Formats: sequence, structure tokens, C-alpha cells
Amino acid sequence: MDGIAEEAVEILLAREKIEARVRELGVEIARDYRGRTPHLVGVLKGAWVFMADLIRQFDFDVTVDFLGITSYGAGVHSSGEVKITKDLDVSIEGRDVLIVEDILDTGRTFKFLQDMLSVHKPRSLRLVTLLDKASRRVVDVHADYVGFEIPDVFVVGYGLDFNQRYRQLPDLRVLRSQPSV
Ligand code: PRP
Repeated sequence: MDGIAEEAVEILLAREKIEARVRELGVEIARDYRGRTPHLVGVLKGAWVFMADLIRQFDFDVTVDFLGITSYGAGVHSSGEVKITKDLDVSIEGRDVLIVEDILDTGRTFKFLQDMLSVHKPRSLRLVTLLDKASRRVVDVHADYVGFEIPDVFVVGYGLDFNQRYRQLPDLRVLRSQPSV
């Protein structure tokens, strides 16, 4: 934990706060999808911790799949170019698709996903994101369900990484010094 203590000490959202908000999102989403079987599509890798907690809020049938997405290059900000590293396993035609993201930043990834998935004719296509950095948006997209709107700080933990580290932290923390990558 030494490296973590040095670099990612400031808690932005404590685990209890995340837990409470995920419960609220679960209620909101459950109300909207009652009587249907939504198909949750988690965007790897950042969203899987959130998705694991979110899915356990539902007391009705859901199905899940995952998309592997990565922006070219490693660093603090996404480069804007998106690459698929894992495609969907099953067809989404006619399904109520709910994309699950950890963070909506510039919006480029979601725009890419909207365009790519719409072609396959889902019945509906919505986005739930745990975090929304609305101030960073460069593409005109919005999430249907937002956990928290956050300022333009680099957050790690609860699935979010910096160069693949810190995903295991139960709280969302701010990286103390932003590396110049
Ligand atoms: C994050 C996040 C989104 C994307 C959002 O993924 O999970 O997919 O960036 O950024 P955008 O709105 O600017 O497109 P990241 O590239 O960090 O990969 P990871 O989830 O595997 O950590």
C-alpha cells in the first residue's frame, strides 16, 4: 500500500457514499425497466466493479455481456481513438441495451459505442455511468443515469485505473500528482 498512500490519498467518494448511490441508481433503473429483461453491456475494464454492484440491485431478470474498449495510448487523458479489444458475445437486436460505464469524459467512447451498436437494431439503447465529467465533454452526448458528476480531476479506484493500477481500491480517490503522460 506504500505507493497508494503516496499517490492516491485524497478520497473523493467514500465507499459508503458509492454504495448508497448505486442503490439509488438501482431503484431508478429498476423502475424504468420493470417488465422487461434489460441487457447490460459492461465496458471493460473500468466498469466491471460498478456493474457487479449495480446488477445485484435488480430483483428481475437481466442478461449481461461485455465489450472490451481501449483508447490508444496510456495516460491521463483518452486520445480519442477507440479500439475494440473484445466484441459482444450475443446479438443485441430487439434488446433493451443498457451500457454500463465507469466514467463519461470527452464522450468519444460513448459516441463510438452508440454508432456501432445502433447498427444492430437494439429496441432501446441507454447509458448508465457512475461518474460524469461533464466539463470535459467534446462530443454532444449525455448519460441516461449518472451516479455522480465530478470535477476535472484524475480519479482512481472502484475499477478505475492509472496505467492499470489502483482498480482494487474500494473508495474513489484523486491521484495526488497527475503524471505528465
Ligand atoms: C475510460 C472509461 C470510458 C472512457 C471514457 O476507459 O471506461 O470507456 O474512458 O472516456 P471518453 O468519454 O473520453 O471517451 P479507459 O480508456 O480508461 O479504459 P479502461 O476502462 O480499460 O480503464
